[in-house]
Amino acid sequence: MKGLILSGGKGTRLYPLTYTRAKQLIPVANKPVLVRVIEAIREAGVREVGIVVGPTAAEIQDALGDGSEWDVALSYIHQASPDGLAHAVKISQDFLGDDPFVMFLGDNVIEGGISGLIRDFADKQWNSQIVLKEVENPSEYGVAKMRPDGSIEQLIEKPKSPPSNLALVGIYMFDHHIFEAVNAIKPSARGEYEITDAIQWLIDHGYMVFPHIHRGWWIDTGKPTDMLDANSHVLEEITPCLHPTAAVDSDSSVDSRVTLQAGAKIVNSVIRGPTIIGKDTLIENSYIGPFTSIYHGCQILGCEIERSIILENSSVVDIDSTLRDSLIGRNASVKRSDGKPSGIKMNLGDHSTLWV
Ligand code: G1P
Repeated sequence: MKGLILSGGKGTRLYPLTYTRAKQLIPVANKPVLVRVIEAIREAGVREVGIVVGPTAAEIQDALGDGSEWDVALSYIHQASPDGLAHAVKISQDFLGDDPFVMFLGDNVIEGGISGLIRDFADKQWNSQIVLKEVENPSEYGVAKMRPDGSIEQLIEKPKSPPSNLALVGIYMFDHHIFEAVNAIKPSARGEYEITDAIQWLIDHGYMVFPHIHRGWWIDTGKPTDMLDANSHVLEEITPCLHPTAAVDSDSSVDSRVTLQAGAKIVNSVIRGPTIIGKDTLIENSYIGPFTSIYHGCQILGCEIERSIILENSSVVDIDSTLRDSLIGRNASVKRSDGKPSGIKMNLGDHSTLWV
């Protein structure tokens, strides 16, 4: 069994963060989503992993290297243009050969990992296994129409009138027959070779595609709110841990669901979990509420923050109102302005949003 991670794409819905950083490298609970995907694949016993990369190839390659840090062997496959998920499979044929493989979209986060799914697929004679999840907004995904016996009748990519609320999760398992499918299909209305159409082709040609219904949470981290949701879920899942070099002074209170990474320093502050505070980050005279991830090298002084993600080397200083549901990029500075005339001053990147 091999792994194939799709990590092309520009992540335009996460502008401005994705102007300067590949979306799959934005951390959730202080670990890039892409690293979470690699770890899930590794945990399922798969060690040969290909990553399909696009415009952000150099940055991804810099961050992941040869994969030895996660005990996997990574190969990079370059997709010259964003021609769709089925096209990504097509260009990966040399890497995949005749091996069965699990394909994982590099921006998907799922509860409970994929070991069970991989075991089922290895045990059975299926040609493909897909994962479905009930969602409230099926038109934003590939959607499955089921037969009364629980088999798949039809898969439709982003239907205007969805036949069900069962969305295709970005985790798929295939044997080599998928190459016949990806070579046979035509581009969709949005001009992409859709993996949804390729799986439909398998069904139409009598191949066995097994639908696994996922009961836990699943998040496709396309938008800022998805990042915050994924962050909350993952923070609840991780085992809290206080690094021996982290320091908490006697005026602070840090509850049992908080993770403090190496060199984190908490001074006269209250930290409520689930929350993670990154390496060498200083929290002083502040309240950090649940579901918050503050990354490495940050300074949070005199503030209250809840359900937010703050990336590395940023500072938030002396803000009167509680900062909540916020996503703050790298090297950003949020501070009080005491000068005259009073008012809100801002220096925002393109496509930023500020709620006041
Ligand atoms: C892709 C697939 C879609 C699937 C989704 C899951 O959509 O085309 O069928 O439901 O991933 O994340 P995209 O993210 O390309 O819009």
